[in-house]
Amino acid sequence: MKFYITTPIYYLNDEPHIGHAYTTIAADIMARWKKIRGFDVFFLTGSDEHGAKIAAAAKEKGKTPQEFTDEMSGKFKEIWKLLNISYSDFIRTTEERHIKSVQTIIQTLYDNGLIYKNKYEALYCIGCEKFMSEKELDENGLCPYHKAKPVLQSEENYFFKLSQFQQPLLERITDPSHKEHLEICPEERKNEITGKLKLGLEDISVSRAALSWGIPLPFDKEQTIYVWVDALVNYITATGYPNTADALYKFWPSDIHLMAKDILWFHSVIWPAILMGCGLPIPKQIYSHGFFTIDGNKMSKSLGNAISPRYLADSFGIDPLRYLAVSLIPFGPDGDISYSALKAKYNEDLADNLGNLISRVIKMAAKYFDLIVPKASGEESSALFKSVKNVLENDFESEMDNFQLHKAAFALQKALTLINQQIENDAPWKLAKTDREDLAQKIFSYLQSIDLILIYLFPFMPSLSQKIWTICAAQGSVEESAKQYFKKGASLSIFSKAGAKLLDSGILFPKKV
Ligand code: MSP
Repeated sequence: MKFYITTPIYYLNDEPHIGHAYTTIAADIMARWKKIRGFDVFFLTGSDEHGAKIAAAAKEKGKTPQEFTDEMSGKFKEIWKLLNISYSDFIRTTEERHIKSVQTIIQTLYDNGLIYKNKYEALYCIGCEKFMSEKELDENGLCPYHKAKPVLQSEENYFFKLSQFQQPLLERITDPSHKEHLEICPEERKNEITGKLKLGLEDISVSRAALSWGIPLPFDKEQTIYVWVDALVNYITATGYPNTADALYKFWPSDIHLMAKDILWFHSVIWPAILMGCGLPIPKQIYSHGFFTIDGNKMSKSLGNAISPRYLADSFGIDPLRYLAVSLIPFGPDGDISYSALKAKYNEDLADNLGNLISRVIKMAAKYFDLIVPKASGEESSALFKSVKNVLENDFESEMDNFQLHKAAFALQKALTLINQQIENDAPWKLAKTDREDLAQKIFSYLQSIDLILIYLFPFMPSLSQKIWTICAAQGSVEESAKQYFKKGASLSIFSKAGAKLLDSGILFPKKV
């Protein structure tokens, strides 16, 4: 089974902030989860390099747009490397393969009679790279996202007959039995889109006469293709389009396009309409998460309240940051973030629950068994292991299937708490004096239960789950073991084995004060 997931391709006008990292980490967690579940995964991210916004940012830095985007795309790649993002491909819209793909799409729309020329005058927000109606502006006449005044533009442009797609889109979005059903999640966002769609659709301008930094329109070289049409096409370019014989084309249509609500309309209305206009299959699901906000305002570079992922990675560590980013606020609505909220979550979930558990189990194994995994009788898994497994299979798995990452993280905590509580109940330090055999059994069950949790923790914390896996004397790679575990069923043979040497854990998550 294939699974194709995408992030938006980000504008390169500035360095990535934790809001961009949020989407990318979430997509990476999902991609890794699907991979260990046996899916053939294609995970795409990249950069949106054309348009007025980039041209202006390059000019400000005294660089050509190409020089500027070469440099800035490198900065995005660096951050994704730092955050251990396992993308399959990083697409840049200035690449030859993409230019060819966009030109093929627009030419097909033209050939299908869906493009016409018209004079147009409207307000344009450069930050959003879109025309805006008066009603979309705030009470001061500003773009609500960029708090900037849109500029009046008047040009002769080419238009796409978007208005023809109102009914076909409504059918695909609202009817789950439609063979080309487009699922928009969460439900509230779907309702917003369908509500707006029902009010009617206007044709949209898909070219610019006055902007040279873009892909030339194949049927009128005086104009460039509107940056949003250019950008959306990236998702199909990466699968080899227009060469549908390309091996990667098997991944089309995409399974999930992930993004925040600011760009949901483009993805759930304009993008599928373009594809339909070309007779191409449309995406299966569009998932919109909320904004990271600071004191209620969307975090963004233009508002000057952006937090750098580098700063947070330095403070908490890379894997903890990946975990905290997706577990702090519910996945869907907006949520305020602050350093103190991240710190509190770090201390509670990672220092006190996970870190404390590993350290106490390893300390007991050191004290009573000289850091050797003790031998437990019988092949049967313990009651503790079964209840941990139950939480992971019932809570974690279903939450992941619904992209509820914060709830999946909660299920991990619940499973960890079960082991911590069991240790309190067992009081192994008392058993040490009375029943060594039972003590061995108990320690063995803690280790196996931890191993099991690590398999599920892996997508969130790929490096630290491997580190703890090795500390617990489980063999090889946690990722490979996870794949085997899900493929072959719960074979216990992949977990910590009696006689194997445990490692001193040290302090994995130093408490933050
Ligand atoms: N280039 C377009 C996307 C084209 S996709 C075909 C664009 N780029 S962007 O750089 O502005 O990125 C927008 C996306 O970044 C949002 O949809 C979201 O995924 C992510 N985020 C940006 N700021 C964010 C927050 N403050 N909080 C959460 N996500 C954030 O739009």
